[in-house]
Amino acid sequence: MTDTITVVDNRTGREYTLPIVDGTIRASDLAQIRAEGDDHGLMAYDPAYLNTASCRSTITFIDGDKGILRYRGYPIEQVAETASFLETAYLLLEGELPTATQLAAWEDDVKYHTYVHTNITKFLSGFRYDAHPMGMLLGAVGALSTFYPDAKDIHDPHSRYVQRVRLMAKVPTIAAFLFRHSRGLPYVFPRNDLGYIGNFVNMTFEIGGKHEPNPVLQRALEILLILHADHEQNCSTSAVRSVGSSQVDPFSAVSAGIAALYGPLHGGANEAVLRMLDEIGDVANVPAFIESVKAGKGRLMGFGHRVYKSYDPRAKLIKRVADDVFEQTGLNPKLKIAVELERIALEDEYFVSRRLYPNVDFYSGLIYQAMGYPTDYFTVLFALGRLPGWIAQWEEMLRDKEQKIARPRQIYVGAAERPFVPLAERG
Ligand code: CMC
Repeated sequence: MTDTITVVDNRTGREYTLPIVDGTIRASDLAQIRAEGDDHGLMAYDPAYLNTASCRSTITFIDGDKGILRYRGYPIEQVAETASFLETAYLLLEGELPTATQLAAWEDDVKYHTYVHTNITKFLSGFRYDAHPMGMLLGAVGALSTFYPDAKDIHDPHSRYVQRVRLMAKVPTIAAFLFRHSRGLPYVFPRNDLGYIGNFVNMTFEIGGKHEPNPVLQRALEILLILHADHEQNCSTSAVRSVGSSQVDPFSAVSAGIAALYGPLHGGANEAVLRMLDEIGDVANVPAFIESVKAGKGRLMGFGHRVYKSYDPRAKLIKRVADDVFEQTGLNPKLKIAVELERIALEDEYFVSRRLYPNVDFYSGLIYQAMGYPTDYFTVLFALGRLPGWIAQWEEMLRDKEQKIARPRQIYVGAAERPFVPLAERG
């Protein structure tokens, strides 16, 4: 058996043998297949990249049929059970688990970059009181590039490390400021005596210089961030890679990722789930809601996934986190509606035949709400979690000799050449 594929172009009768490497053929190998000498050659047409590998990656492995997710080879269940978020970030960014010394140095570097330039607080205060925090976040993170012009030195490994530390350290501070902004509360500045999660929670919830930390809720938040830390070539990561491929600075590239995450089909789904549960209102209304989804009137938010065609392993872990959190906070009343939605959907032919299962966003919003975060803030928390993944994927893209500026092709289906009609002659 040779690792090649032979195709016959029935337009010309010519035969081509193309190499198969890692279960793929190179789309550019198709270009040699021409019907006429001057055509551009055969292209692969794949809207939404349903079956196209855009890169080689060593970061995250997913088997969507078996419900497997691994970071750098380590099963997500084991990482979430044992690691801290910064340890997970180190793993994703550096490729290996840190030693105790390496972890301490990494934690220190991040800790001492948590402050942001005070001008950032000035422009944040220019946002309307009801501005969506994701809109503010993508603007503020993009603006960081103007504070750190050295971030343009993307080919310098030291500069890349500094920007990585700045992103990991300052995005939680900005995220916490947005939370305070929406409430008209004064900003709480970072505290270096607290850990990464403890500091973030303190910056969001401290009132009058006081906040009583709840270790169970803090660990739950940490696990949620770990579960969101990377998910290979999803929409926002592809956005970071694609924008980063123009060789723009990492703050601008990550801000593109935040924009992509904002959408309701991606990270915005956790917010959409809560709005959906509010709309359903009562367990008694669940069957009617399911029928309306089946009739094409909207989607069951938090269900379905491009890659997972079985139970999302993150959703399984999140259900366990939910138990811990609700034990502390009391049951979120909307949980009953969510559980009933899941029960019916998992038995219903419509969802079963399409292999639609709860995804990471189905239960996470209920937990964030129980922790005291408002609905429009959920996707910001997702962004905090996904940050190391975006940076790791950006770095991998930059170091990949095969990558160039991302620039897909198209099939032009518009008008053929026609003479321009002056304004006065247009009917
Ligand atoms: N509710 C009802 N029907 C659905 C849903 C859903 N949530 N998801 C997919 N379908 C149906 C869809 O209508 C289609 O049916 P048909 O074959 O009859 O036309 C079939 O399932 C396949 O759907 P698709 O749109 O081709 O699937 P996709 O891979 O393009 O979309 C998805 C994946 C996640 C965008 C989609 O499942 C969806 O919109 N889910 C709801 C939003 C959501 O929860 N997003 C979070 C995704 S996970 C975390 C993240 O990425 O942030």
